Amino acid sequence: MIDTELWAAAARDIFWYRAPTVVLDDSKPPFYRWYPDGVTNVCYNALDIHVQEGRGEQLAVIHDSPVTDSKASLTYSELLDRVARLAGVLSAEGVGKGDRVLVYMPMVPEALIAMLACARLGAIHSVVFGGFASHELAVRIDDATPKVVLSASCGIEPTRVVPYKPLLDQAIRIAQHKPQRCVILQRPQQVAELLSGRDLDWIDALQNAEAVDCVPVAANDPLYILYTSGTTGQPKGVVRDTGGSIVALKWSMSNIYDVQPGDVYWAASDVGWVVGHSYIVYGPLFNGNTTLIYEGKPVGTPDAGAFWRVISEYKVKVLFTAPTAFRAIRKEDPEGKHIARYNLDCLQSLFLAGERCDPDTLNWASDKLGVPVIDHWWQTETGWPICCNCLGIERLPIVPGSPARPVPGYKVDVLDSSGKPVAPGEIGALVIESPLPPGTFTTLWNADDRFEDAYFKTFPGYYETGDAGYIDDNGYVFVMARTDDVINVAGHRLSTGAIEEVLVAHADVAECAVVGIADAMKGQLPLGLLVLNSGVDRPADEIVREVVQKVRDEIGPVAAFRKCIVIDRLPKTRSGKILRSTMRSIADGQPWQMPATIDDPVVLEEIADALSVLSST
Ligand code: COA
Ligand code: AMP
Repeated sequence: MIDTELWAAAARDIFWYRAPTVVLDDSKPPFYRWYPDGVTNVCYNALDIHVQEGRGEQLAVIHDSPVTDSKASLTYSELLDRVARLAGVLSAEGVGKGDRVLVYMPMVPEALIAMLACARLGAIHSVVFGGFASHELAVRIDDATPKVVLSASCGIEPTRVVPYKPLLDQAIRIAQHKPQRCVILQRPQQVAELLSGRDLDWIDALQNAEAVDCVPVAANDPLYILYTSGTTGQPKGVVRDTGGSIVALKWSMSNIYDVQPGDVYWAASDVGWVVGHSYIVYGPLFNGNTTLIYEGKPVGTPDAGAFWRVISEYKVKVLFTAPTAFRAIRKEDPEGKHIARYNLDCLQSLFLAGERCDPDTLNWASDKLGVPVIDHWWQTETGWPICCNCLGIERLPIVPGSPARPVPGYKVDVLDSSGKPVAPGEIGALVIESPLPPGTFTTLWNADDRFEDAYFKTFPGYYETGDAGYIDDNGYVFVMARTDDVINVAGHRLSTGAIEEVLVAHADVAECAVVGIADAMKGQLPLGLLVLNSGVDRPADEIVREVVQKVRDEIGPVAAFRKCIVIDRLPKTRSGKILRSTMRSIADGQPWQMPATIDDPVVLEEIADALSVLSST
């Protein structure tokens, strides 16, 4: 049973224009609604309240950008001023409650300002990660139909400048929906050409803008849409509401991460991902923390000591990142020599999430840093942790390989394929009893049916996480693998289905499959298997080069799609199902068995040969 008392109490800790009298409306499962008659505003809870309560001169955000060799910071008062004026720009464009605004930005404070300005007006933001290319951007523009796009001229990666504006222009060209206005932050590294009549210069627009006040919105009004990968190429627009998000994220800062107002909290992720939404922007600001926007990498900007430099320079109390970042650091500096160069006494704990954390990485981090290293499990859909050793409540023993126990508000079970609970230690589908707590997704944008079908149909009464795992005798949850076609590349969630759609659109490709294979640094990498149209006599490696480029152009470099082979036929069952998991085992060098249902055993033998050639190159 959900603990409504807990969530009633947590709701008293935030600002409401009208406090809710009802905690949970459970009349239309699975469309549960938290605080249905409450009225509040996200931006008010993130900024105005702190300025009013005397925190105006405290740093709200620090921007540390080794890729541009610059550092900057804004106090809560300064941030409020920028946000209120950008809200004025949007308001002058006719953006109001419920209108969508698309944000396509690099890791600069303006990304956070953009999100908060939308929230100030009750407009719904949809942030698209900068590593996605035009096609992905266009799909999101068409689904969210934004009135305005907030973007920048370019992003900066360690080895190159990424011109965002041409990617945006191309996306708008191919999208059916045309936003009325684009407001572009010009960065000196690459100034973009502005389209007269459609584009505005960010700085000019802000100079002429009037600051506007927060608009009171209903607790269940959407705060944002965040697209995430599903099984098909059409991404899922996860919708998060207003009241539940403020309550849950604020609650999580002290209870899960054990940080107090004034502490410096650093989520080394990107605003384009859910971690960025919840723990670069909203959670820390609701809690009166100082948040860090880091525009760099864990290695190479300039070295594997980058994280330690940032922690010591800004007195970071809690660092949150993905295990892949630590694998990258460890690879460059296995003995942790860079750590000794900095004073890390300020660091209280390290939280890891986004992918399974292998015990080796966790043990290395805790040996080298000497602080609790906390693996926690969550998803874009939940918006905040499902399972975690909640340091602000009770410190549980750390068991590497497990994100510990369910966080208050989540009741996690493991079910077999018929929906029956399995015994402790047995693997099955990880599910969460309905209703989910506040701050989790309320639906999928434009797709209530898909919301019900994808998450609540297989196991009635439960939310299906899409992860498989087990719970041990001590109630510790172990998350082992996805049960669907989602893969996790360097902590980035990608759909193999979306990559397949790009591959199969190549004129010479008849059929294809993409599977996620193990990678020592990125966790997983996509592997493509192509079957060519009969009669194609061009060299296979030429076609492979073309499809690799196509994935980079259409999905984006973030897919890290480089491994691809041409085969004669895909291995299938007699009923025509592609044998993906067997191919994955072969590619990973795991023991595998010839499935009894295979239509032609020779095909798998041939693939095993082709993959052994690939792995030796
Ligand atoms: N805009 C444009 N391109 C981007 C981008 C952005 N915001 N972010 C990444 N890319 C590009 C990179 O330049 C790279 O391109 P390349 O193929 O030309 O090299 C590609 O996308 C893959 O990027 P990335 O996943 O960052 O891999 P990497 O090899 O550059 O770095 C790690 C590897 C482990 C250092 C890096 O993935 C990392 O720091 N991960 C931390 C985890 C994280 O942030 N997870 C998010 C969820 S918590
Ligand atoms: P995303 O929606 O991008 O946050 O990805 C969510 C998925 O990442 C989950 O469904 C898991 O498959 C995986 N994941 C996230 N955190 C963990 C973790 N701590 N342990 C294992 N898998 C994780």
